[in-house]
Amino acid sequence: MKISPYQADQSALAYSVGITLDRYIKLKQGDFPFASGELSQLLRDIALAAKIVNRETNRAGLSNIAGAFGQTNIQGEEQQKLDVIANIRFMRALSKGGEVCAIVSEEEDEVIDLQNKSGKYVVAIDPLDGSSNIDVNISIGTIFSIYRRKTPVGSPITSEDIMQAGNQQVAAGYVLYGSSTMLVYTTGCGVSGFTYEASLGEFFLSHPDIKAPETGNIYSINEGLELEWQPGIQEFVRECKVKKYQSRYIGSLVADFHRNLLKGGVYLYPSTVQNPSGKLRLLYEANALAFIIEQAGGKASDGTLRILDIQPEDLHQRTPLIIGSKLMVDEAEKSIQQALSEIHIISR
Ligand code: AHG
Ligand code: MN
Ligand code: MN
Repeated sequence: MKISPYQADQSALAYSVGITLDRYIKLKQGDFPFASGELSQLLRDIALAAKIVNRETNRAGLSNIAGAFGQTNIQGEEQQKLDVIANIRFMRALSKGGEVCAIVSEEEDEVIDLQNKSGKYVVAIDPLDGSSNIDVNISIGTIFSIYRRKTPVGSPITSEDIMQAGNQQVAAGYVLYGSSTMLVYTTGCGVSGFTYEASLGEFFLSHPDIKAPETGNIYSINEGLELEWQPGIQEFVRECKVKKYQSRYIGSLVADFHRNLLKGGVYLYPSTVQNPSGKLRLLYEANALAFIIEQAGGKASDGTLRILDIQPEDLHQRTPLIIGSKLMVDEAEKSIQQALSEIHIISR
């Protein structure tokens, strides 16, 4: 049989757009015995809300949605209009789907109890991360964690369902609204990245089985706070400079994390004099990214403890965060321990 010239050349003419997020989620559902499809549906609900938020962020300069909303959230941070819009979008998507019973959001003071008799999942979400960057066209993101509730489905929600350590996550992910929009997620079997094709309205698998380089040459930290850093961080950063590493800090956690995940590097938001517990939130920032980085072969620590093993005590609890390439996080931890032991010797 003769191969037509059209067939022979077709891969050169029209590249394959590949597998959509929907199809991928469906395929992967088979990895979990007894999976009922609800987690898959929940991930699809999140993806749909992400598409809507992507649309809003893309036209932020044209519509009247850039700038401050005029209120502060529970953490005393000024809410941007897009913070509020993204929160509404994700809240609606999660409430309508039926799979979720409760939501923890950066933009909500209390747990949102959806009074959903059949929902077996709890979601913690930072609807818009890096929101101070919205007005200047710099990448922003969404971060989410998914837990299975501990108490029986249909019974009232308790703190046992909400205050779960990160090691209980069943799935986690982030959306990066950047030079292209990406959704990256894990269900505990590796990390997959999808790129949004706006003209088709679909996320396509672009980064299968993401692995974090074991080490790298990028360090990301707000150096303006150097004089306030906890002991050990100055020494670590000095060592990065001696090694002529690159300093890269966007100020959007998702974007800084994503770059370091792909290229190799470490992101640090340590304890500071003003914020002794750091700035980032355990439930809807650190835990999701910690789950992802571990699934990619990297590491996440608060300087001493594994992030995923921290037992939360407060909904909006903050934690110092050191996350990225495994060997670099090890080095930062060593530097902190060294500084702590010196303080201990001096104070004896
Ligand atoms: P959010 O916009 O959700 O409040 O998060 C902002 C966070 C995070 O995205 C970023 O890495 C960090 O704040 C930056 O903090 P500094 O400005 O203190 O460096
Ligand atoms: Mn954030
Ligand atoms: Mn936010």
